[in-house]
Amino acid sequence: MARVFSGIQPTGDIHIGNYLGAVRNWVKLQDEHECIFSIVDLHAMTIPYDAKAMPREVLDKAATLIACGIDPERSILYVQSHVREHTELCWILNTITPLGQLERMTQFKDKARQHKQNVNAGLLNYPILQAADILLYKAEMVPVGEDQTQHLELTRDLARKFNHLFGETFPEPKTLLPEHAARVMALNDPTSKMSKSVPGSYIALHAEPDEIRALVRRAVTDTGPAGDAMSPGVANLFTLLQEFSAPDVVAGFRAAYEDGTLRYVDLKQQLAEDIVKALAPIRERRAALLADLDTLRDMLRDGAERARAIAREVMAEVREKTGLVLG
Ligand code: TRP
Repeated sequence: MARVFSGIQPTGDIHIGNYLGAVRNWVKLQDEHECIFSIVDLHAMTIPYDAKAMPREVLDKAATLIACGIDPERSILYVQSHVREHTELCWILNTITPLGQLERMTQFKDKARQHKQNVNAGLLNYPILQAADILLYKAEMVPVGEDQTQHLELTRDLARKFNHLFGETFPEPKTLLPEHAARVMALNDPTSKMSKSVPGSYIALHAEPDEIRALVRRAVTDTGPAGDAMSPGVANLFTLLQEFSAPDVVAGFRAAYEDGTLRYVDLKQQLAEDIVKALAPIRERRAALLADLDTLRDMLRDGAERARAIAREVMAEVREKTGLVLG
């Protein structure tokens, strides 16, 4: 079984865009792969964050992932900082990473622009830590969104360079983009991606039914120039309908759109109810997991132990190859 690794940041809500674009694929991958999923708290520290809120954010993300179908027994689910080897391998990879390549990363440039007051070295080195995450487990496949392809290229470059300098060690991991990439746009601005940092743009996986109804009701429908083409807002609602509603329901609304008889209120009402129905089991399972934090902590401790067992072995090999041994 090929080994799969992916990571998700603990800060902010997991929303339907994350679910359709990533988490849903992770759940499926578990059937045929050895999967390792990490809640990457060390990455989250590269932008201003609330240290007191962090433990709760981490537990919340673990509960949400398990509620979505990540199985902490079949897969390894753990918190990045609990496995110290990540930072150790990160340091070693630091020493073989060209500064210029880091400075060219679009995510770094975006975040540096957004956080002008805090362009710290961690933000620049973020992709090296990500490479360490992946290589630490010799993962062969990394399911991520399109925005991570540049980081994955760096990961492969570093694997190749390490192998060249110190001898064959790491496989070059493949980027696994979602098969039918449901690109979900912001409800309040359908020209940009749904984002957990923009309230009103997203529907959290744990949103209450009335919250879901209100968000869908307020979704923008009429942006863009009037004309024959479907506006981005309406197109986005159809994308969601496609994901959450029955095929005949989708076909009915499409036909109404073609005829020019579609009423957005009807479309929104149907969509909202179908999202409510789809998210109900996730919301309930998440709540049950969060009601028993000790069990949840035990699951993450167990995950970290199993991750560490692999990481320790790989680091022993890396230390040997890089000369960090007494001979
Ligand atoms: N940078 C990724 C994101 O923002 C999260 C991440 C960290 C990750 N380490 C990873 C993803 C390793 C895949 C593999 O989405």
